[in-house]
Amino acid sequence: MYRSDLLQDKTILITGGGTGLGKAMGRRFLELGAGLVICGRRKEVLEETAAEFEADFPGRTRHFQCDIRVPDAIEEMLEAVWTEQPVNGLVNNAAGNFIAKSETLSYRALDAVLGIVLHGSGYMTLGCGKRWIEDGAKASVLSIVTTYSWTGSAYVLPSVMGKSAVWAMTKSLAVEWGPKGIRLNSIAPGAFPTEGAWSRLLANPDVAEKFENYAPLGRFGDHAELTNLASYLMSDEAGFVTGECVTIDGGAWLRGAGQFTWVGEEMSDDDWAAMAAKR
Ligand code: HXC
Repeated sequence: MYRSDLLQDKTILITGGGTGLGKAMGRRFLELGAGLVICGRRKEVLEETAAEFEADFPGRTRHFQCDIRVPDAIEEMLEAVWTEQPVNGLVNNAAGNFIAKSETLSYRALDAVLGIVLHGSGYMTLGCGKRWIEDGAKASVLSIVTTYSWTGSAYVLPSVMGKSAVWAMTKSLAVEWGPKGIRLNSIAPGAFPTEGAWSRLLANPDVAEKFENYAPLGRFGDHAELTNLASYLMSDEAGFVTGECVTIDGGAWLRGAGQFTWVGEEMSDDDWAAMAAKR
């Protein structure tokens, strides 16, 4: 779909880059010529992914064990990254989420998710942004949000609060840092199955099947569809796009939003015939 050198002049840091969608984006960025820094909490997972990437794209992946909830850990990582070779792209991908009735949540449960999604994305963006501004470097940030960043959603309250804030950050800094040559965009993915998200969010296979059929396009997203969109937004081809969120969900959130969608879906052929007879 793209020129193989689309991201050749990019070095991109992906939080949570060892697994799931973060890993899929990393591989695609490498295919398109980028250098990569992946970070995450689990050392073994990072090492495994970095080794895979090194085998296919030698000398282009650095990895750092880093808990992005901890500002000192982020500073330590960014100092090391900048000393060796600065990045000019950041993907806020790391997230935490679980499905729960909100009245059962402890304060620590709220903090567990907000620590990663809200604080982690905020710290990373500020840490990189300050350095880019000091260096006079052009750069771009991509944050993975969700469609419930603007609709809200029952049963995933901590994630709703965190992702809404990250979307607000995207719009705010797009304006504030635009004059400095820094773009910020987001992607709101629908159902792209990954082990991490599915094991935490879907209680059984029936729910997974309903999830798949819920989108008007009648299927899950393919990781390549998301990674190509992310590549475009990180590339200079998207040089005039900032403060934007691209939804890639097969129409799922609009299905929930349309006032008469469910009414039409509940109607039988006889109901439709009866309505037509009234014309
Ligand atoms: C209620 C829960 C809980 C659950 C944990 N807690 N899981 N409460 N329901 N299912 C509570 C604990 O009881 C504890 O509170 C507090 O949260 C902290 O738990 P820890 O396990 O100590 O926290 P930690 O090890 O930091 O784990 C963070 C995590 C975990 C968020 C809880 O799930 C995680 O690390 N996830 C990372 C990967 C991930 O979630 N990926 C999915 C992202 S999907 P108490 O008070 O008992 O001590 C996504 C978008 C989805 O974001 C969109 C799909 C369409």
